[in-house]
Amino acid sequence: HGVYTYDPGFMSTAACNSNITFIDGEQGLLYHRGYPIEELAEHCDYLEVAYLLMHGELPNAAEKQQFTDTITGSTMLHDQLSNIFRGFRRDAHPMAVMVGVVGSLSAFYFDSMDILNPKHREISAHRLLAKVPTIAAWSYKYNIGQPFMYPQNHLNYAENFMYMMFATPCEQYVPNPVLAKAFERILILHADHEQNASTSTVRLVGSSGANPFACISAGIASLWGPAHGGANEATLNMLEEIGDVSRIGEFINRAKDKSDSFRLMGFGHRVYRNMDPRAAIMRKTCHEVLDVLGLNNDPMFKLALALEKIALEDEYFVSRKLYPNVDFYSGIVMRAMGIPNSMFTAIFALARTAGWIAQWSEMHSDPEAKIGRPRQLYTGSAKRSFVELNKR
Ligand code: CMC
Repeated sequence: HGVYTYDPGFMSTAACNSNITFIDGEQGLLYHRGYPIEELAEHCDYLEVAYLLMHGELPNAAEKQQFTDTITGSTMLHDQLSNIFRGFRRDAHPMAVMVGVVGSLSAFYFDSMDILNPKHREISAHRLLAKVPTIAAWSYKYNIGQPFMYPQNHLNYAENFMYMMFATPCEQYVPNPVLAKAFERILILHADHEQNASTSTVRLVGSSGANPFACISAGIASLWGPAHGGANEATLNMLEEIGDVSRIGEFINRAKDKSDSFRLMGFGHRVYRNMDPRAAIMRKTCHEVLDVLGLNNDPMFKLALALEKIALEDEYFVSRKLYPNVDFYSGIVMRAMGIPNSMFTAIFALARTAGWIAQWSEMHSDPEAKIGRPRQLYTGSAKRSFVELNKR
């Protein structure tokens, strides 16, 4: 089979050098630029984490202010972009709209697309970080037939997104501080996760010199799948399908049955063979939010907590080290916040934008980076002679 290593799913291939994120899957450790995720989630806001991912250091007070002002000042979309939304069917999935609209940014902001110019790369990175939340919120507003809400510069990043999702021109909207904090945490926990499928996609697309908006659009497409970012939506859809605590056993049995393709959504992870540290933090936040909102007795949440308990004790899951992952809990929190299932993956996408652009920028400043070009093991027919149509 030639000289190539066969590694389907890149189980053991390091495709790049990176000094952004460290994961130890055996021990369940996640550090960004050396800082444990637990400390970042406890003490930082999302834009500080984004700055850390992009620049390698936490910002000082002046840098933080300047970065926040830059991002806040770029959250508006070119007004013409609202026409692109209007070209979609109202019932389109928000992720379908996001793939399209984020890709279309390259037709609007082409003054910052010289990827060989570090200043251009930075401007594009800022534009993406600032505008993806507006696009995500507008994809929801379009879906439910409400008017687009323009960003509010006095709100922070998380609150501003909640405002654009939930406010209407008819009434005053004040984000609930507990929910805003929980939402900020969701953003921080999803900000980066080294070379997962969508980040590897962004790097691979970017390795050909493609423009950053096209790269992030490709990342969003990769994230959409249920084995990756789509798991948060799939988890809640699954809980709705299970419907009642009495039916959990039936679904657990299906998940264990190798002749059934059904998997428990929100369980398992390629890298973690221990509790995902993000899931541990999200689990705590989840219980806090359910308490604050008085939802502990809500049937859907009771079902989720019963499923968590059974799976954590069941031999099948324990022996395979399949723990609930971050998307199991983030889906529950977002549902408690009143966010519809169809927006969960869009929110993951806006949070992961920080990691995608940090990884994309790192690749472009790495002298060893090359165009991504995997090889294959050819398993097709040996050479043979052409057969005329009337003889086949
Ligand atoms: N339910 C039932 N069995 C499972 C599950 C599950 N969710 N996940 C893995 N397994 C079993 C699998 O059948 C296999 O069993 P066996 O050894 O008997 O053949 C074993 O566990 C190892 O699984 P794998 O498929 O080799 O693991 P992988 O690293 O290729 O897949 C995964 C990782 C996340 C795609 C998978 O666990 C899965 O499909 N989980 C459900 C979807 C999900 O929640 N995804 C979100 C991941 S976290 C957020 C993100 O990355 O975006």
